[in-house]
Parts: sequence; structure tokens; C-alpha cells
Amino acid sequence: MATNRTFTMIKPDAVANGHIGNILAMITNAGFKIVSLKLTQLTTADAQKFYDVHAARPFYGELVEFMSRGPILAAILEKDNAVEDFRTLIGATNPADAAEGTIRKAYATSIGENAVHGSDSDENAAIEGAFHFAGRENF
Ligand code: CDP
Ligand code: MG
Repeated sequence: MATNRTFTMIKPDAVANGHIGNILAMITNAGFKIVSLKLTQLTTADAQKFYDVHAARPFYGELVEFMSRGPILAAILEKDNAVEDFRTLIGATNPADAAEGTIRKAYATSIGENAVHGSDSDENAAIEGAFHFAGRENF
């Protein structure tokens, strides 16, 4: 059964480019409630662990370097059908393929530096949320 939470990060590119406020506005205007929110930075080891599923991919080294190079905004979001609806809101991985009105269409600059993360399943949403937030940080 689908749960109603997903996990997101505003990635180092979008934080550095000053897009936190506009991206959060797109998220809340789309009907997501903020359950947890934190400005933080991944260590190299954190980024390696978070993206372990991609360890064999050619872009893994670059991805780990990018995701740990500066602060990110981590958040848990709540809405009916959260995982799927949030993937629709962020758009395709490659901004060249992202639909109009999506966050990546507006703010991603390349397939690697694509502004936001969105969990791909309820199971991963729970794992990724717990990676960043203690229970008492969930509201
Ligand atoms: O983030 P999403 O689920 O859309 O894509 P993914 O296939 O799970 O890949 C995770 C992240 O790796 C992407 O968001 C990109 O930042 C990066 N990536 C990349 O640098 N080059 C690729 N060809 C694919 C992904
Ligand atoms: Mg993914």
C-alpha cells in the first residue's frame, strides 16, 4: 500500500544558486506539507552511502563529489500519493527531457546537476528520510 510521505533534497547546485525559496514555494503550492526540514551537508561517506545503488555506474564518482561539495536542504514531505506526485513535480532526470512546470525544467542545469532529489519508492522514502532525520525531527 502506498504511504503518504516522500523524501527530497535541494541539491548543492540549487542551494548555491539561491533557489531554496522558489523551490520550496513550488513544493508547497503543489500541496505537499513539510514534515521535516534541515540545511545540512553530506560528507563524502554520506554521499557514497546514500547513492550506493549507483556505485557501479560511470557517473558515481562525480555524483558523490557533487552531492558533498556544499550544503543541501533535506526534507520529508507529506501528501496523498507523495512519491509518485513528487516525481511528477520534479520532472525527468535530464532537464532536457523535463516537462514544462517541473522543478528540474526551471532549475536543473544538466543531467548531473539537476537541482532536486526525489525518492523513487515508498520503501526508499522511509530509508532516505531516516538517513537524515531523527524521529523527534518529524512533525
Ligand atoms: O534522481 P533520479 O532518480 O531522477 O535519477 P537516478 O537515475 O536515480 O540518478 C541519481 C542521480 O545521479 C541523478 O539525479 C543525477 O544527479 C545523477 N546522474 C548523473 O549524473 N548522470 C546520469 N546519467 C544519471 C544520473
Ligand atoms: Mg533515483
